[in-house]
Amino acid sequence: MKEWTREERYRVLKGPEDIRDLYDRIQKSVYRQTYHVQPITGLSSDPNGFALHKGTWHLCYQWCPWGAVHGLKYWYHVTSPDLVHWQNAGIGLAPDRDYDNRGTHSGSAISIGDDLVFYYTGNHRDEDWTRTPYTCAALLGADNRPVKLDQPLFGPRDDHSEHQRDPKVVWNEQKQRFYIFIGAQRLDKRGCVLVYESEKPLEGWRFAGELKVPGYESFGGMWECPYIVNISGRDVLIFSPQYTLLPGRGESTNHNVYLIGTMDYDTLTFTPDGPYRHLDYGFDFYAAQGAASIGDPDKAILIAWIGLPDNHYPTEEEDWEGSLSLPRELRVKGGKLLQTPLAALESLRGAALKPNGTLPAACELEIACPDGDFEIALFTREDGSGGLRLSYDAARKACRVDRSGMDKRFNIPVGEVLDMPVETPLKKLRVFVDRCSVEIFANDGESTFTTHLYPTDREFHYTATEGVSLRGWEMERAVTDEFVV
Ligand code: FRU
Repeated sequence: MKEWTREERYRVLKGPEDIRDLYDRIQKSVYRQTYHVQPITGLSSDPNGFALHKGTWHLCYQWCPWGAVHGLKYWYHVTSPDLVHWQNAGIGLAPDRDYDNRGTHSGSAISIGDDLVFYYTGNHRDEDWTRTPYTCAALLGADNRPVKLDQPLFGPRDDHSEHQRDPKVVWNEQKQRFYIFIGAQRLDKRGCVLVYESEKPLEGWRFAGELKVPGYESFGGMWECPYIVNISGRDVLIFSPQYTLLPGRGESTNHNVYLIGTMDYDTLTFTPDGPYRHLDYGFDFYAAQGAASIGDPDKAILIAWIGLPDNHYPTEEEDWEGSLSLPRELRVKGGKLLQTPLAALESLRGAALKPNGTLPAACELEIACPDGDFEIALFTREDGSGGLRLSYDAARKACRVDRSGMDKRFNIPVGEVLDMPVETPLKKLRVFVDRCSVEIFANDGESTFTTHLYPTDREFHYTATEGVSLRGWEMERAVTDEFVV
């Protein structure tokens, strides 16, 4: 694995020619995604600035141009007419001001009349590397590139640690004001959310208080990427708590969880109805963010980073890694989130799967499950060995997913086996495979499981126990992957 110096990781991009050769080289990788947003070069991580504006979906990702390493972060911008087909639009935000000199970190967007307003964290560092996180804003310009405000909207609070970032903006109709939720850490290193408010999107921001979440006062060391949304009258709080182990999640200390409850903007209290749940039970799912301005009170549209902080993936050797998940629809039912793939994805279905037990590198599978226990192994070798093994245990109400049999193993210390709990008997699976990722939706979105997977050229078979019925389609290309910087 390459060792990166700080200088290399924090190099400023002078122009497109700096990364042209790198782009050409990684284009040849067999693991480039065909219908998932991925970095044009280097590393992509969190989704940022996700919103519908004047009929176009805007989405950015945290981007480090130089390689599969976390360093100087840009926002790279992609757009879509339908959340299925994506086009590269070039750099969204570059760390080119003093207040964001060491990175334009995560944030959100909201469509307000003619304006698409972006909120992000300006990661400022002094010479001695002391960090000051600023909450900053930009407006989408006529050339489809965001234009920054001259000054940040506000700086950090000194009664919390330096970890204050990832502004998620929401409009509250009842209060007639905007709120910004910021992921934060208290001085004693417990995670929390800070809330700011203003009647106007670009001025007048004041601190409203720390969000109270009864029962979650000591839950992880930093809450990254908070997101709050009202779906069918229930409030949903989604966040990514770090620096903590959680039951059933192996050795991972990074998680993405949600609470359903009631948000009281008078007292800034989010009262959960029940326990937290994992947004996704897979190995690689983090920093999820919902799209703003979708105009439907009964659903949200969510996208996440297929990856985790601190993890390493096989394409690191090729100087790139990361991908965004498919956007998914969220609904609230029976005190839980139901997460389903978008119906429009069906337009990508191409040729039906051949009946010879082999899998194309990019495909969708629909699996009807028998009653009781069963096993399916995807991307096995010809003799049926290895593969991504899914074993359902009806008594335990869980589907165990094991990726330890693959040729390319990775993140072994974090764990290669995880359970996807399924509370109702498992009847149906929808599986979306792209060249380096697998997303599984169980029982109409009751539970989901997302993982990176890097099958080698001998791993393209599948096996299933009797009674499992599987059909599927090759998926057509939906990302252009052009060199636009
Ligand atoms: C989450 C995160 C954010 C931060 C960004 C930096 O993965 O750590 O909290 O803004 O990544 O890239």
